[in-house]
Amino acid sequence: MTKLYVSTKNPDKLRELGELLGADVELLHPDPGDPEIEETGATLSENARLKAEAGHRRSGLISLADDTGLEVDALSGAPGVYSARYAGPGASYRDNLQRLLRELHGTDPAHRTARFRCVICCAGVDNEPRRFDGVLAGRIIDTPRGDRGFGYDPVFVPDGEERTLAELSADEKNRISHRGRALRAFLAWWRERVAV
Ligand code: IMP
Repeated sequence: MTKLYVSTKNPDKLRELGELLGADVELLHPDPGDPEIEETGATLSENARLKAEAGHRRSGLISLADDTGLEVDALSGAPGVYSARYAGPGASYRDNLQRLLRELHGTDPAHRTARFRCVICCAGVDNEPRRFDGVLAGRIIDTPRGDRGFGYDPVFVPDGEERTLAELSADEKNRISHRGRALRAFLAWWRERVAV
């Protein structure tokens, strides 16, 4: 079975990446006690690269990393690269979501457009890491709905949908999501390049 190392301790990202990669890929990942890889980059792309290269050095395996941000137009693109710590260091999903709703309080529905941007970086195939992008456009509603997914999913309604990402099934989210799109771009390249 093909092995891939995924440089994340986020169980929600691991679950979605596992669903997207399917059963014929064995996913390895850091142990809870392994040192954190600092996200010191100024962009999603730099952070994804830092994590993928560190994962490759640590595991000796082909390594993937995902860095994702939510860009809200009315907030000039925030929280963006700071999506995981929008409400401060160590903030929970709920803290971040509440801050987002506070910042957007009183903003007209027409001006609540946003997008998730996901960058997946793969290290260990070529000398240079490879980058794959996925974007999902939508809008931020003012009252959370749904209990699936994670992070900002309960307030994000994708274009063409009435339901939030947290109201979609895992399959429905994966089919349209930023992460699904970036991962499928990676898979198309990887199958061609590496897998037999
Ligand atoms: P990072 O990619 O680890 O920097 O984390 C980005 C943050 O964005 C996460 O902590 C979540 O709050 C949020 N996030 C990432 N992916 C998703 C998603 O698919 N849905 C909702 N929120 C997400």
